[in-house]
Amino acid sequence: MTIGILTSGGDCPGLNAVIRGAVRKGTEIHGLDFVGFKDGWRGLIDDDTMPLTRNEIQGISKQGGTILGTSRTNPFSEGGGVERVQEVLERNGVDALIAIGGEGTLAAAKRLTDAGVNIVGVPKTVDNDLSATDYTFGFDTAVQIATDSMDRLRTTGDSHHRCMVAEVMGRHVGWIALHSGMAAGAHAILIPERKTSMAQITEWVRSANERGRSPLVVVAEGFKLDTMDDAHSERGLDAFGRPRLGGIGDLLAPLIEEATGIETRNTTLGHIQRGGTPTSYDRVLATRLGMSAIDSVVAKRWGRMVALRGTDIVHVSFEDALGELKTVPAERYDEAAILFG
Ligand code: F6P
Repeated sequence: MTIGILTSGGDCPGLNAVIRGAVRKGTEIHGLDFVGFKDGWRGLIDDDTMPLTRNEIQGISKQGGTILGTSRTNPFSEGGGVERVQEVLERNGVDALIAIGGEGTLAAAKRLTDAGVNIVGVPKTVDNDLSATDYTFGFDTAVQIATDSMDRLRTTGDSHHRCMVAEVMGRHVGWIALHSGMAAGAHAILIPERKTSMAQITEWVRSANERGRSPLVVVAEGFKLDTMDDAHSERGLDAFGRPRLGGIGDLLAPLIEEATGIETRNTTLGHIQRGGTPTSYDRVLATRLGMSAIDSVVAKRWGRMVALRGTDIVHVSFEDALGELKTVPAERYDEAAILFG
């Protein structure tokens, strides 16, 4: 049996560990063969492959990025479609596919599975917003990088008696902001799930400053002030609905400076959060997910995604996996907010 593997969507530390876990268990325990499709669904549409043997996967679990490359190509557009996918799989003698990706990838995988393609999914997103799994690999790494960066921002902020704003990833959810902000002792954490007023932010910043602290404000890229209605945020949006020129951190810093009189600087952490070596937690989680995907393949259980529940790896249907996004619950935010100001 030959298994194709692809990584699709934004990259994420831990992708290589999934590939290694799957290939090692698949070849050594079950005698499976593997082929890699390059750059996500693009490689499957263009028939662009690479070998995946023990040689290619040697020592890769500590490497960031993905040895297969990735893209945001949708298998149903740009010359794709069910027939094309089936044709390329047949040409390569591929019996089943392991698709590693986020919501978009899993939605495409579900459509293909419904059309008869044998697929097992592995969830991937630094944002940690897939509801069927307790954690996604890459999240821990992103939080660690963001926390380290904030520790650094605090020492320079302290020296200059400035307010420091750190903009972190999180288009729709504030998990990275919540965890890194809590770990770094932020004086305010602003997330997409909770619209907040400038008056409230000003109060938190002033209160920290009055105690002799240099305020640290952590903001997720998808955050909106309570005065930002949809019409406001529709101006100059990118494909994900984010402001095209400068993010929310660039918008907030001058507003905070104006409201408080405290010199304020924004740092947008951006793709730094997705780059480099995965943490040991992410390597272990990713490896276990990759190995568990093989269990589904061997059992011929298609249309299922591997997921973390507590400390166990479980298998859920694509339907269940594609439920609502996992947002930060109000109680979790209110708990963190006790530490603000
Ligand atoms: O979905 C993960 C994510 O990292 C988001 O937090 C971020 O908004 C987006 O991807 C960035 O995407 P790109 O790499 O395409 O700019």
